[in-house]
Amino acid sequence: MPDAPPIRTALGGAVDYELIDSGRRCKLERFGPVTVIRGEPKAWWAPTLPSREWDKAQAVHDEDTGWDLRPGCPRQWTLREGPLSFIVQLSNTSKHLGLFPEQAPHWRSIREAAAPGARLLNLFGYTGAATLVAAQSGWHPTHVDASKPAVTWARNNQAASGLTASPIRWIVEDAIKYVRREVKRGSRYDGILLDPPAFGRGPDGKVWKVERHLPELLTLCRQALTDHPRLLILTTYNIEASSLMLRNLLADLMQPYGGRIEAGELALAHSAAPERLLPLSIYATWRP
Ligand SMILES: C[S@@+](CC[C@H](N)C(=O)[O-])C[C@H]1O[C@@H](n2cnc3c(N)ncnc32)[C@H](O)[C@@H]1O
Repeated sequence: MPDAPPIRTALGGAVDYELIDSGRRCKLERFGPVTVIRGEPKAWWAPTLPSREWDKAQAVHDEDTGWDLRPGCPRQWTLREGPLSFIVQLSNTSKHLGLFPEQAPHWRSIREAAAPGARLLNLFGYTGAATLVAAQSGWHPTHVDASKPAVTWARNNQAASGLTASPIRWIVEDAIKYVRREVKRGSRYDGILLDPPAFGRGPDGKVWKVERHLPELLTLCRQALTDHPRLLILTTYNIEASSLMLRNLLADLMQPYGGRIEAGELALAHSAAPERLLPLSIYATWRP
């Protein structure tokens, strides 16, 4: 029997980020020098801090009207993560700032599993945080995302991190289409990361639905792995699913390789209440 699902918290990571407080379906966060408030459907409880602390936020996101910025609040700035720099921004079209700090435990796994020149495929790579962690730790990453603006942002993060010379392949493509082509070409990877959204679209508008398309994508990923893979990480969020489901999927998929699977939740600890964790996504990782 597997143990109870572990919780991997981003507390103690190197990223200059803090979840200060959460409650009433919102969260109060600090990204570097800027504090922001945005919606968080999972924060059902009451905030720990009094409203006067929340009132100090420099930017507040509203689902209908977008970001409301206090005078002097920047629209874009840079955040340090150890040796890396990530550009974060308050855009009119999204409540996301371009970085998911709860992924920090995965960044640790990527660094631990690195080997010089090993090939890592990052599917649904967004603005490139995991890709840059991989490049900086010796992997040769291939970054795939359907959104051209996201890949441009990721390339700007590469430049901001001083990694312009790193051998990163940037691909704007539908994830399934890309892996299918790689399998046909005989191109193999030592590690694969998948962080699929519940719903998305390929560059040609083709719909991605995690419940419908994940099994096919995982089968293709299995065919794209080398005989001695080093890492597989699957993360999902905003869907009706349990980490035990992800464990079962990886157990079937990676059975020929042996190895070990860990499955659980990614969560952030609050600086105002360290014993209270905010769950944000579920994951399963495979290591040899
Ligand atoms: C929330 S992001 C993943 C976060 C990222 N792994 C990180 O930690 O920064 C989901 C990404 O999936 C991309 N996407 C959606 N549908 C896709 C598809 N069919 N193929 C490839 N990428 C897709 C979106 O453009 C978006 O950048």
